[in-house]
Amino acid sequence: MNRRDFLGIGATASSLLGPTSASLLAACATRGTRLAELQVASSWPLYRPEFVSPEGLTLTARHATVEIARGVSSPILTWGDGPVGPTIEARTGQRATIVMQNELDEPTIAHWHGLRPPESADGHPRLQVGRGERYVYEFVVREPAGLYWYHSHAHARTAPQVYLGLAGLFVVRDDVEKALDLPSGPHELTIVLQDKRQDAAGRLAYVPVGHDLMEGFLSDGPFVNGVRFPRIEVEAARYRLRVLAAANARIFRLGLSTGTPLTLIGGDAGLLDAPVEVPSIDLGTGERADLLIDFAGHEPGTVVRLRSLPFRSPGGMGMGGGMMGRGRMMMGGSGASAQGAELDLAEFVVTRGGPRSRPAPSRLATLERLPRSSAARERTFRFDSRMMMHTINGRRFEMERVDERVPFGAIEIWRFINDGPFPHPVHMHAVHFQVLSRSGGRARVFPWERGWKDTVLVFPGESVDVIARFDSHRGMFLLHCHNLEHEDMGMMMNFQIE
Ligand code: C2O
Ligand code: CU
Ligand code: CU
Repeated sequence: MNRRDFLGIGATASSLLGPTSASLLAACATRGTRLAELQVASSWPLYRPEFVSPEGLTLTARHATVEIARGVSSPILTWGDGPVGPTIEARTGQRATIVMQNELDEPTIAHWHGLRPPESADGHPRLQVGRGERYVYEFVVREPAGLYWYHSHAHARTAPQVYLGLAGLFVVRDDVEKALDLPSGPHELTIVLQDKRQDAAGRLAYVPVGHDLMEGFLSDGPFVNGVRFPRIEVEAARYRLRVLAAANARIFRLGLSTGTPLTLIGGDAGLLDAPVEVPSIDLGTGERADLLIDFAGHEPGTVVRLRSLPFRSPGGMGMGGGMMGRGRMMMGGSGASAQGAELDLAEFVVTRGGPRSRPAPSRLATLERLPRSSAARERTFRFDSRMMMHTINGRRFEMERVDERVPFGAIEIWRFINDGPFPHPVHMHAVHFQVLSRSGGRARVFPWERGWKDTVLVFPGESVDVIARFDSHRGMFLLHCHNLEHEDMGMMMNFQIE
């Protein structure tokens, strides 16, 4: 693209999209690099993966080249045709029969994050298969309506594979959700949030060095459904926005540029008992939020940006933390924004009027509460990062070592303590849990942590108690940090339900 074409696109974009694009354009004009031009010109429609059934599904992991921004193609890994995998849509109780065919140059395995299939279908890295091989999954989807996801769980290669595209959404529906008559069809949006670095030609570049392996791989490029900073056209109506945080390391503090509060209706593993309004929501890798956003009352042409608001991040670059204000705090030469930096993620552009919004239902789902007193025992897990090592209780992952044994059916409290300088989104396979308490650090349980979850953010200095019933299946399952670099470097352990 030559400079003149670029300005042409920029001018059109800025008249449509308002002052921010214009100032971005100005900023890029002074930076003058090809990459900057590509970034400005990338207001590109949201990629919407096709919906597929879990019955008789084949997912082929393969190399492909796709457009990730307007006029920018990149080699990626994919489970379909696009920069994120097809969205699997299932009913509670439905059987899943899925063949994962590996056409990559390296081993891989798919894991169904938030679902609780038997051990043989859970995608443990010891089950990974090589090029030309396949893995057959058979399980019953037993989870309540919610936004789950699937991703590569390749041994020590999860970070690059997920980064390059091996992730997709798994939507489960049930009658409870149906009776609520939430916005659906074109008024239901499902999005995957990530951040990625691009090289000078705009291709995705996963080359972690030094600090990337300690804090995790942070980037400055916002990617939604695998496309850089997309434009999402909406009607002036109420939408259901379902969000998965799936960056390698970035934590998103999700909010809107208008400052309008978000109506939260669900979390990781299903609906909350009642909606709650919050100014913003913190999501670590693996966490999900189910939101209602009302664009009613906005004139056509209005632009509302979805952004990650700045927050104080302890441990970033060994600076002892700091508030990241407006504008990007770049980390030495890596082209990454610091953890906690403000980041625009996507633009909603109101294109026309829509149906009148019905009020949000006041009651959602019935949540069984597991009281602290129901637990048979407590276990403590200390997460630490030092000297290029990420450990749980002082140990790194070993494929076949069983670190904890839990009786089938037991209710237990697991305490996650962060002794190190980086946040850890702690994830458990095989169970859903409830967050009982958080002490130290932020010292509270947030509204988005009130429902059933499978991943919880544990900031430095925090101790988080979760409670779970281990009654899905017997077998060996994983507990790990979902920061993908931490995970690949061994911040993971096996527990055996027996
Ligand atoms: Cu999202 Cu062990 O995985
Ligand atoms: Cu998982
Ligand atoms: Cu971690």
